[in-house]
Amino acid sequence: MNNNNEIAIEVKGVAKTYDKDVEALKGVDFTINKGEVFTLLGPNGAGKTTFIRILCTQLMPSRGDITILGDSVVDDPNAVRENIAMVPQDAMAYSNFTPWDYAYAFCLLRGMDKEKAKRKAEETLKAVLMWDMKDKPCQEMSGGEKKRALIAATIASDAPILVLDEPTSGLDAIGRRNVWSALRDRAAQGKTIILSTHMMDEAEMVSDRLAIIKKGELVTIGSTNEIKKAVPFKYRIIAPEDAIDKTKYTEVTKIGDRAVVYLTSDTEAIQLVSDMLKKGVNAEASPVTLEDAFVRLAGGDIYELNEEDKKEVKVK
Ligand SMILES: Nc1ncnc2c1ncn2[C@@H]1O[C@H](COP(=O)(O)OP(=O)(O)OP(=O)(O)O)[C@@H](O)[C@H]1O
Ligand SMILES: [Mg+2]
Repeated sequence: MNNNNEIAIEVKGVAKTYDKDVEALKGVDFTINKGEVFTLLGPNGAGKTTFIRILCTQLMPSRGDITILGDSVVDDPNAVRENIAMVPQDAMAYSNFTPWDYAYAFCLLRGMDKEKAKRKAEETLKAVLMWDMKDKPCQEMSGGEKKRALIAATIASDAPILVLDEPTSGLDAIGRRNVWSALRDRAAQGKTIILSTHMMDEAEMVSDRLAIIKKGELVTIGSTNEIKKAVPFKYRIIAPEDAIDKTKYTEVTKIGDRAVVYLTSDTEAIQLVSDMLKKGVNAEASPVTLEDAFVRLAGGDIYELNEEDKKEVKVK
């Protein structure tokens, strides 16, 4: 957890244009504090992996620069690399390596002596529940197990900056919690952690701050609570669409045969839930979520096929 707001990473006007004029990043500026878990959210193709690859010196920006613990990714990528360990989005574990091989080798590569490397490898393999499988070749493992082995190796490396591109996609709920716990622990030790995810519960659970990127531009940045303020309502109530009188509410989002009704007044929310119960249908009420804010900030309109004329009809 960041206590001193000391800047670890400074992103200055970073832009990337791939061949054929694909403008993946259009000039983003922000800072990431030391000891912070910082999460990138954004629709598919928003530019998250492009940003992460520039951050990890796998890709040069077309414009701008990132300074990481004082070193520039443009002028001194070798110095940057010494401070970073990463799990790429499409990380694949080599088949004949074991989780132990990965974790121990990463530690040695980062200059630890053998005793420290063994200690770190053991600690992190246990943290992501891979200790029992430490000697099993990756080719005999499931997809999620391979991913956990790579996450363990990255965390074990003890680099001050840890970068994980969608680390928990494909992991079960228990595996995800263990990874979140390991990441929070490392942040508490002063490591700076940057991750990308599509999972809103993960973003909410693990992040100190988040940035939403859309079409290569920074849409917003802040804590979960700050970002949720983009939703001008207090509650979301999910109910069967045909049980809701949509003319009564300012905002209703249709999701197939369900409707999400957004409300601010406590009385209105209680009334709606009670009306639904009287009708004998289920209604689920909760405070607005990060997902509501994300869809509002990064989403486009939601369309559905109108059965009569087979045209797309805008419903939100
Ligand atoms: N090597 C490449 N060459 C050309 N275009 C690319 C390349 N890599 C990515 N792009 C394009 O750049 C844009 C941003 O891609 P990027 O991989 O950064 O998105 P992302 O936010 O990580 O998406 P996802 O959530 O799907 O992983 C997309 O339009 C993508 O098609
Ligand atoms: Mg990506």
